[in-house]
Amino acid sequence: MISNAKITAQGAYVPKNIMNNQDFEKIVDTSDEWIQQRTGIIERRIAQNDEYTSDLSYKAVLDLQQNYNVDLSDVDMIINATLTPDYKTPSVASYIQAKLGIKNSGAIDVNAACAGFTYGLNIANGLITSGQSKKVLVIGSETLSKITDYTDRNTCILFGDGAGAFLVEYSENDPSFIASSFGSDGDKGSHLYCSNLSKEMFHEELDNPGFVVQNGRGVYKWAVGTVPKIIQDTLNKSKYTIDDLDWFVPHSANSRMIESICDKSNIQKEQALMSLAYYGNTSSATIPLSINRAISENKIKKGDLLLLVGFGGGLTYSSSLIKWSI
Ligand code: COA
Repeated sequence: MISNAKITAQGAYVPKNIMNNQDFEKIVDTSDEWIQQRTGIIERRIAQNDEYTSDLSYKAVLDLQQNYNVDLSDVDMIINATLTPDYKTPSVASYIQAKLGIKNSGAIDVNAACAGFTYGLNIANGLITSGQSKKVLVIGSETLSKITDYTDRNTCILFGDGAGAFLVEYSENDPSFIASSFGSDGDKGSHLYCSNLSKEMFHEELDNPGFVVQNGRGVYKWAVGTVPKIIQDTLNKSKYTIDDLDWFVPHSANSRMIESICDKSNIQKEQALMSLAYYGNTSSATIPLSINRAISENKIKKGDLLLLVGFGGGLTYSSSLIKWSI
């Protein structure tokens, strides 16, 4: 794959309010033990009532700016991956463009659910490599707590709020992007949905309008079958093999599921970076949050080979094989 795009900065933000597994024992029939064993989640962050996705995006970008002292005034495209935008319109990207005071940029939200951040990164690489952009902000941010039904124990224990941001810039000789894959199994859309205007899907009436509804087992089975194929497909497009990978960064949905994917793909479990235990499933934010956390723990080093794989609602998937460059 030809690329002239390089990741030059990253940042993250999570709300202050922590909801742990014991808090769920008080509102639904569940236990800390069940949640940890089945999902790997210990706690998650929950936004305030008046705190929205754009607020989290904005703070993640401020963190990026502070961490790497970068100038964002000449950013020419903002891509915000989210399934929980503040408004139907304007997009979160347009709204935070105004908050950041950026004048000459495009702005667009990407809705590919938990695959949104990797879709966004690959779009940024495409825009830059084709000469249409020079500096792109890619953000993954969610306030899933606002579309979570806290009476439904099947879903409420899973989700959390958070945001992560990358800056991607033109680079003649030192690109980060090596290979990518993407796809969608649209016929499985009813495994994971949150209805908006329509009350039905494929002529079936939908449950619980306005809240996330999930066929947990269906998604689990699909992910364990699909993700190993995406991993192999992406590596096959490069000169690298599984043995060359330093880190595997899957969408942090469920630690048991990720372990099973690692087993099938011959990836060591220690190589899988996850933000799940402390943030839960934050959809499009899990991948940048996992990377942000791993950097703060001195795990990821410049030059490391990372395979990012997002997968989720749609059902969609998207991967990026990258050389870490900061
Ligand atoms: N606490 C206690 N029991 C619970 C529970 C909870 N929070 N949620 C469900 N259960 C119960 C079910 O009611 C069911 O009880 P029953 O046997 O009496 O009917 C039992 O646990 C097993 O339910 P099941 O849905 O089969 O559990 P599971 O082992 O598949 O785990 C998930 C459920 C949601 C954790 C798991 O399916 C999962 O993580 N799936 C993938 C989800 C995902 O990754 N989504 C995001 C993709 S982007």
